[in-house]
Amino acid sequence: MTQSDVVIAGGGLIGVAVAWRAALRGLTVQLVDDAPGSGASYAAAGMLAPVSEASYGEERLLALARASLATYPGFVAELEEASGMSVGLRTHGTLLVGFDEDDMRVVADLHAFHGELGLSAERLTASACRRVEPSLTTRLRGGLHVPGDHSVDARSLHAALLTAARRAGAEFVPARAASLLVEHGRAVGLRLPDGGTVCGGSVVLALGAWSGVLPGVPAGAVPVRPVKGQILRLRGDQLLAGTVRGVVRGRSIYLVPYGPDGLIVGASVEEQGYDGRVTVGTVHELLRDALELVPGLTEHELVETLARWRPGTPDNAPLIGSSSLPGLLLATGHYRNGVLLTPVTADAVAELLVTGVQPEVVAEVAPYRFHTEVLR
Ligand code: GLY
Repeated sequence: MTQSDVVIAGGGLIGVAVAWRAALRGLTVQLVDDAPGSGASYAAAGMLAPVSEASYGEERLLALARASLATYPGFVAELEEASGMSVGLRTHGTLLVGFDEDDMRVVADLHAFHGELGLSAERLTASACRRVEPSLTTRLRGGLHVPGDHSVDARSLHAALLTAARRAGAEFVPARAASLLVEHGRAVGLRLPDGGTVCGGSVVLALGAWSGVLPGVPAGAVPVRPVKGQILRLRGDQLLAGTVRGVVRGRSIYLVPYGPDGLIVGASVEEQGYDGRVTVGTVHELLRDALELVPGLTEHELVETLARWRPGTPDNAPLIGSSSLPGLLLATGHYRNGVLLTPVTADAVAELLVTGVQPEVVAEVAPYRFHTEVLR
């Protein structure tokens, strides 16, 4: 058995970023994962898009997302320095386009919502959209330009975080967390499949869509469910400067360029439990809608199809902070915003681990909002 200040279950973007920031704060950290970064982080498109993803009823999430976006440039600069690696930050903004007249009504509604919230987005004609992104179809009806919504290469971000966390002294345990160890009503570590244990003063649960089903986690303490997303990766001439989000005959799609020749096309949103199949129908729809928006993609290579599970919560906002079980902290439930919320989550959890106090910036997303004892 080994003992540290913090044990982290899960080596996705959130878990590894928490490991890095906690280690920088002087804590000893052990992170348990047999395949770090192979879950939702592996499928993430890397959008940093609080404005173009804004939805009615998610104002709590929007405030947190904007706070995280504000820290992103500094976080990336520090990470690239610490790791010696690029994370592919693109700051060309996001174009949100409507394909037909009905789609334009959806775009106009979103623009009205932006106005209510004081968010920056500019209405563009179809030809103005094409001046921003010349590869877009001439059939487009118009759109919005969101100058502050950017992207990173999520896989590069994860690789940089792994390196930075290791350099800061975090220890990686290459094993699956088999169960949460609870002694005298307190979480004290993780049990591994071989019967070994990894113990610490606090346990941070960052298992994404699996956070609620780790044996030993009290039933109902982590209200997270899997929300399947299928995405595609294409390779070819880089036709887009920044992210394009589209509404195409009522369906939402996004196209996120990365590297010199990569493009991510996503994504489905499916309540299918842990079904991990990539399906013909969804791949067909994604390709069809992508080609409607950017006809020049026809000759691109389809290099990858992938399904993963977002950790969804009842209000689409994450669970960050102490759980109902003493010793167990949650850093999960990031649903569609894991990449964007990585900096704010990592710094808030590191602060909580050091001070024992829930930072103000994550006060609204404390897990106790779902504790039944609070509701009674
Ligand atoms: N944030 C993109 C997605 O969840 O599909």
